[in-house]
Amino acid sequence: MKVDGTPYRSLWWDAEAEALQIIDQRWLPHDFRIEQLDSLEDFALAIRDMHVRGAPLIGATAAYGMALAMRLDPSDAALQQSWDDLNKTRPTAINLRWALNRCRDLLLGLPPGQRQAAALSLAHEIAEEDVEINRRIGEHGLKVIQNIAAKKTDGSPVRLLTHCNAGWIATVDWGTATSPMYQAHDAGVPLHVWVDETRPRNQGALTAWELGSHGIPHSYITDNAGGHLMQHGQVDMVIIGTDRTTCQGDVCNKIGTYLKALAARDNDIPFYVALPSPTIDWTVTDGITEIPIEDRSPEEVSHIQGRTAEGTISSLQVTPNGTGVANPAFDVTPNHLVTGLITERGICAASEAGLAALFPEMAAKVVENGS
Ligand code: MRU
Repeated sequence: MKVDGTPYRSLWWDAEAEALQIIDQRWLPHDFRIEQLDSLEDFALAIRDMHVRGAPLIGATAAYGMALAMRLDPSDAALQQSWDDLNKTRPTAINLRWALNRCRDLLLGLPPGQRQAAALSLAHEIAEEDVEINRRIGEHGLKVIQNIAAKKTDGSPVRLLTHCNAGWIATVDWGTATSPMYQAHDAGVPLHVWVDETRPRNQGALTAWELGSHGIPHSYITDNAGGHLMQHGQVDMVIIGTDRTTCQGDVCNKIGTYLKALAARDNDIPFYVALPSPTIDWTVTDGITEIPIEDRSPEEVSHIQGRTAEGTISSLQVTPNGTGVANPAFDVTPNHLVTGLITERGICAASEAGLAALFPEMAAKVVENGS
């Protein structure tokens, strides 16, 4: 996608520096900064402290982290150490472990001398796959949006509501929930997107920045406004991303997603999840009891970051001194509240049968492994 007319991906390998370049998302939407990651510690910090964020992007970043680690030391011990260091950075999004396992499985089968080149080429492969998966999710999601548009006789825009940022900067490109929006807009379907602010970190501001750069009409709303808008017929469809979806279709996503799903159900509004297959955790069935939910720092809630009138980026305290804070970062929407999962292979029901029909080889592998 473009930033000020220049095409970007959210990460790219710098062959000369033998390092990864990322967009440091901590400063968006106010400041566009590029950061170079050239040690395993840089990679771990960038994922943990959310310089990069979004499930698919942290998976791809971790794969490049393994590649860099293999350049510095391709031994078995270093391979396991880098897997451990990267894996513990963020516990909820399954794409991280998925990418790390894919790297480890390949590299363990190779002599140390071949690992550096193989790891880098696998990281490129994972990044390219992500772009293609998201492009296809957009194609399938576009049809859903077109169907809604076709039922509108007055030419009014299709009104979508989204939570958090499942946009191109949360992936390598396109985004998951935003890919259908970009493709619908480019196909000439009139849209209006309600963008939840998504406290505590306000990833909605990232979504607003993306949509604004692409010329898609949108309004930034408080997290509590969605239910009201739904009751008043202002939302045609909810579409969100996911950090981990279980084999029975329970959807873990940014905190607050569950409340949107409840409100959507109460108002008969379709609730779709844009789901790339690496985000499916085939080893987990019940999302509510089995998915680890990341507990993040209290400062994310007690403070808020923004741009001052003078143009500096600053953090302000919201709560009284000493107030206790809880900050669960994700929640789980049970499958019965989900209208459909929009994957790269098409749309399916949020159920074991639905997912197994679209991804039979992945479902069969889990049965084979006995997990
Ligand atoms: O904590 P974050 O910002 O990494 O959370 C991101 C989300 O919850 C996204 O909705 C999800 O990762 C899907 S991104 C395509």
